[in-house]
Amino acid sequence: MPLRRALTGIQPSGVPHIGNLKGMIEPAVQLQETHEPFYFIASYHALTTTKDPQLLREYQLEAATSFLAFGLDPGVAALFLQQDVPEVCELSWILACHVNTGVLERAHAYKAARDLGREINLGTFSYPVLMAADILLYDSHAVPVGKDQKQHVEMARDMAAGFNHRYGADIFVLPEPLIREEVATVPGLDGRKMSKSYGNTIPLFLPPKKLRKLVMKVTTDSKGVDEPKDPEACNVFALYKLFADEADQEALAGRYRAGGMGYGHAKQELFERMDAFLEGPRARYSELQAEPDRVDAVLAQGAAKARRVARSTIERVRSATGLSLAR
Ligand code: ADP
Ligand code: TRP
Repeated sequence: MPLRRALTGIQPSGVPHIGNLKGMIEPAVQLQETHEPFYFIASYHALTTTKDPQLLREYQLEAATSFLAFGLDPGVAALFLQQDVPEVCELSWILACHVNTGVLERAHAYKAARDLGREINLGTFSYPVLMAADILLYDSHAVPVGKDQKQHVEMARDMAAGFNHRYGADIFVLPEPLIREEVATVPGLDGRKMSKSYGNTIPLFLPPKKLRKLVMKVTTDSKGVDEPKDPEACNVFALYKLFADEADQEALAGRYRAGGMGYGHAKQELFERMDAFLEGPRARYSELQAEPDRVDAVLAQGAAKARRVARSTIERVRSATGLSLAR
């Protein structure tokens, strides 16, 4: 039986952070053991908000390099830029002709842009349609994402089911979001969801000194050193859990509850864990940064593989809808 396919994307809209790592990059890299991975840099999606060519170029390379630094094997996975498979725009249009605007008005990306008072361009409004095209173009079964993307993946699934129903054939695979419940949503420095759009992130490849400085900025309540504290209500502890095994989590939780430990101490523990974990990927990241041609070659090879699959899906869709004269 052919391997089930895993697909995910990351927007090159800022420097990748701990939320991206734990919510998506890590699970995606693990899936290469069991699935056929197609992972891409969602540059068209980023263009809905980023209008700076120099930054967009930089962020695309950073996102691709991050996947590789955390162990993505380009011999196994197709890693590519979204725009290198232009078939995605064709599929996006075809899907758009089958979606009611009412559905799109309920989408998170659109609602978030509205709540932030951002301009709502047509790309922002049709964001979930392009995302559905990304997913359906590659016959993806599993879509590893953070919890915030669950709704978008479900919309892709609904679009696929609607399309299959209308055209009377199994044209699209129905995708499933794959969400790590124990991670769910990684909090940022201010306790809200860690996100590039909130400016509250801990970037992945900071030198240790800068990393420590940021960790010290994680917000806590104002309990004094002697007071007992609730680990489950603390952002520092929520981040610590992502890097420590259960025994160490229990030990630190005990010290929270007992009193006599200040938040500064918990932050130092968190910094040491994070720094030890990030040390290896940080070194691989700098090595790869010094060899941009190597990253370019990985992206070109990934795009060629992705495009072969995309062509065959588009042929199927053209034939089903009557866009192709061949029956
Ligand atoms: P951002 O919100 O910072 O712009 P993206 O939208 O590019 O991040 O997200 C890329 C992937 O990382 C998505 O699968 C998303 O769900 C995941 N992700 C982003 N932030 C978090 C977070 N704070 N916790 C868990 N997963 C996250
Ligand atoms: N919208 C996703 C995000 O902001 C990125 C993305 C674009 C994506 N297309 C995708 C994720 C397809 C999974 C599958 O995080």
